[in-house]
Amino acid sequence: MKITLDQAVSLLNGGLVVGIPTETVYGLAASINFPEAIGEIFRLKGRPSNNPLIVHVATVDEIAFYAKKIPPNFKELASAFWPGPMTLIIPIIEDNLPSIARAGLPTAGFRIPKPAITRELLKRTGPLVMPSANISGSPSATTAEHVEDDFGSGFSVLDGGQCDQGMESTILCWNHSAWSIIRLGALAPEDFLPTLGYTPKINDATEENQSMPLCPGQLYRHYSPIAKLHLLQNITLHDAVIIGFSDRIYPNASRVFLLGNSNDPAAAAHELYAILRTLDDEHIEQAFVDMNFPNHGLWLTLRERLLKASTA
Ligand code: TXA
Ligand code: MG
Repeated sequence: MKITLDQAVSLLNGGLVVGIPTETVYGLAASINFPEAIGEIFRLKGRPSNNPLIVHVATVDEIAFYAKKIPPNFKELASAFWPGPMTLIIPIIEDNLPSIARAGLPTAGFRIPKPAITRELLKRTGPLVMPSANISGSPSATTAEHVEDDFGSGFSVLDGGQCDQGMESTILCWNHSAWSIIRLGALAPEDFLPTLGYTPKINDATEENQSMPLCPGQLYRHYSPIAKLHLLQNITLHDAVIIGFSDRIYPNASRVFLLGNSNDPAAAAHELYAILRTLDDEHIEQAFVDMNFPNHGLWLTLRERLLKASTA
């Protein structure tokens, strides 16, 4: 059910959960002041309680109240990328942030989302926790309709149209002496080079490198449609459903879903989750993905999401 900005403000300030647009993906929002509403987010998504939520704020100054320590380059990163698709994990004063939101961790992730309507909302509600607005494990929602598909047509959603990026925020964590990436996202590792003077290392949560900080959510099944995805370098199959690129020809395909041009990773990021959801809407049992694309920039995020989505 589509609601107005005023309705969203009063529902959130009354302790209810609402779907909210961001430039990355839709979020399932609750006010930081209502731990019961935060519990409802975990229940609605079927999300494990040890998977923490990101705190969304309207201005960078609001973060000072929660922060135990502001790591080096925090301010430079904030002014270069906020509002925008970057989440920064920092140590927090535990008494100032409900334990349920951060899954008991002594750290929390913060982000200022981009859409004007969402920042106006945040000014009127204060900080909101928001995971992606999908059932845990499924592809993220990039339209208000996707949110209704997962949580029911009566579920309240503020409609902001299709998300600009269609891909989650890139999550950075301060790790002793440098920032590292604990979840690939809409910003590429090399995007941070001008601000940091180095390209942050990618910490894959599946590696057994316990000295590095972890992103708990990366350990779970994620982004997966019911359809089985097969990832291929070279597609020559007959009568198959293909997820591929508009500048390539798949002469024997029974159906082709287009990620856009093969030199445009932003277009592919924008389309990916909507395509994965369409497979299930149309009861397509399996699809073959054209993985013949580069190994750098935003393509890394796409590769990682497709790998996760293809692992049941
Ligand atoms: O773009 C986004 O980040 C979207 C929009 C709605 O803002 N939100 C989003 O939230 O993707 P979610 O909950 O689907 O993913 C957040 C990820 C999870 O994998 C979680 O484990 C990780 O962030 N995370 C949150 N707080 C953390 C912390 N203190 N330490 C490590 N990882 C954390
Ligand atoms: Mg998510």
